[in-house]
Amino acid sequence: MRFSPRRSARFVALSLFIVLCSFSLAFAGHGETNAQKKGILLVAFGTSIKEAQKSFDNMEKQVKKACPGIPVRWAFTSNIIRHKLDKQGQHTTSVPSALAGMLDEGFTDIAVQSLHTIPGEEFHQKVLDVVNRFRGGHGGFNSIVIGQPMMATPHDVEAVVEAIQTVIPKQRKADEAVVLMGHGTHHPGNIYYPGLQWYLSQKDANILVGTVEGTPSLDYVVSELKKRGTKTVWLMPLMSVAGDHARNDMAGAEDDSWKSVLEANGIKVNAILKGTAEYDAFAALWVKHVKTAVAALN
Ligand code: CO
Repeated sequence: MRFSPRRSARFVALSLFIVLCSFSLAFAGHGETNAQKKGILLVAFGTSIKEAQKSFDNMEKQVKKACPGIPVRWAFTSNIIRHKLDKQGQHTTSVPSALAGMLDEGFTDIAVQSLHTIPGEEFHQKVLDVVNRFRGGHGGFNSIVIGQPMMATPHDVEAVVEAIQTVIPKQRKADEAVVLMGHGTHHPGNIYYPGLQWYLSQKDANILVGTVEGTPSLDYVVSELKKRGTKTVWLMPLMSVAGDHARNDMAGAEDDSWKSVLEANGIKVNAILKGTAEYDAFAALWVKHVKTAVAALN
């Protein structure tokens, strides 16, 4: 091959081209963090009762339907429940480890949806405080938005009243009472239960709200029923799952279960073991909140 200036110019151009290509490939490697990847983290208290898992299956189905193409992950806020499940061979994650895992997976924008009923201690300590530590700037997410619990505004409470009215069994007669068993808490968020009672009383005076650990109490519910001379009660959990509280504290055979206490007061009890998240009418309330959170992602 004879040396010519033209050929040498072509060689230099080709070499430059190859060098530039290598540079741009190297930069493309660093560019992978730029792609936006949205995700949804569903956060529940958790349950160790297999049957109650139905609630979570329904929630995931409804959320995926409302937010197509966005991957869904789960976290449980109760450490006791997670340890119980670990012993049964079922691995679950807390909110911080679920979020760390999502960072590892390359998610950039997260909607964290609380499946709690009220903004109480679980929501404030195990969702709000933890999520605040994952906010952007220092290796956190580009955007992270919290979806509110089922009741977080007066408007939500009115929507819950409507949902309750749609799920009450058709066989229930007007003079029969419906008693909802909420969890209740010492946290100020407990105010949603007496608040819900007020909104319910505007629509149907025979629907009562009681709580296991807060106000109103079972004593209040019993005294109200006695005042009215109620003969039959429909007992329903106001919790996302029909777990331990619903099966034991509400409808259990022990003397101190709500069912036993009501029966000891001469009232006939029909207990319904279905968590609110099993009903589409309630699931829709959380779905509305997750859609608001997803829409607020950057
Ligand atoms: Co509890």
